[in-house]
Amino acid sequence: MAPLVWLVTGCSSGFGREFVHEILKSGDKVIATARRPETLEDLKKAGAAVLQLDVTWDQERINETINNAIAIYGQLDVLINNAAYVLGGAWEDLSYEDFRDAFETNVFGPLKVTKAALPHMRARKTGTNVFISSISGWSGMEFNAGYAGTKFALEGMAESLNREVRPLGLRTLIIEPGFFRTDLLSQGNLKTTESSIPDYAEASKAFNRLLAEKNHAQAGDPKKGVAVVVDLVRQEGVAKGKKVPVRMALGQDAYEVIKGKCRKTIELLEDWKDVISGTDLDA
Ligand SMILES: NC(=O)c1ccc[n+]([C@@H]2O[C@H](COP(=O)([O-])OP(=O)(O)OC[C@H]3O[C@@H](n4cnc5c(N)ncnc54)[C@H](OP(=O)(O)O)[C@@H]3O)[C@@H](O)[C@H]2O)c1
Repeated sequence: MAPLVWLVTGCSSGFGREFVHEILKSGDKVIATARRPETLEDLKKAGAAVLQLDVTWDQERINETINNAIAIYGQLDVLINNAAYVLGGAWEDLSYEDFRDAFETNVFGPLKVTKAALPHMRARKTGTNVFISSISGWSGMEFNAGYAGTKFALEGMAESLNREVRPLGLRTLIIEPGFFRTDLLSQGNLKTTESSIPDYAEASKAFNRLLAEKNHAQAGDPKKGVAVVVDLVRQEGVAKGKKVPVRMALGQDAYEVIKGKCRKTIELLEDWKDVISGTDLDA
């Protein structure tokens, strides 16, 4: 197979860095991007091309950056929408601006970067857009509306995009990791607030304690996670000879959470079937 050209957002840490190493290992070419280019020096030394890209930039600046990226190797085959952050906190404690900022990075960022890449991919009738979602794109939990909301939105958008562009020869992949050992829950990356409202105070403390305990103690190995994604895109390794699905969970915890939600949803649909299907107009 001729080498593919990949672009990855959010390469200053975590999955982003691991993607770059795994892509280079496969023999493909990669453009590593981050909002702080100084964090990309070692990736450049390892063989990646590097570019500054803050996914909250306006559409025009993102278009320019993606066009510059395409010019580096003359094509872009795979876009990995990876950059995001976790916003924790009670609905009532977080401001509208807190929610809006999380959506700017986690939802409108991938929207704009993908919009910039699509014309090029459509013209070549080939390309894969990967969206790094989360188990939080399947299951909401207390004090997680600011993050789960963004990942649910991303899932619906990406699933719809897939149906739009699949007939044109483009592929879409939604990745749903459980807890993986990256810097996602580290101070500085994670934005969370402890509730000032007595009704939530204790539960909010417990939630923040859980995040702190999970930080750098997550079971998921980011190297193994990105290796699966690279296989899915290249349709080799674990994906060889298989029909690659649009959604792929990663991690034992993701398997349990998603399966549990599916089981409960089926039970609910069956328990309430008559009510649910009894709302059509009488013939
Ligand atoms: N690790 C997990 O357990 C887990 C689970 C489910 C889903 N995910 C998803 O995996 C993806 C990667 O996260 P990670 O686990 O690797 O966490 P991470 O180590 O915190 O990496 C997140 C990256 O996003 C970048 N970023 C944040 N805002 C940005 C912006 N406006 N423009 C460009 N880059 C920006 C960060 O760059 P800066 O250094 O500049 O802030 C950082 O490089 C995210 O989409 C996350 O939601 C992770």
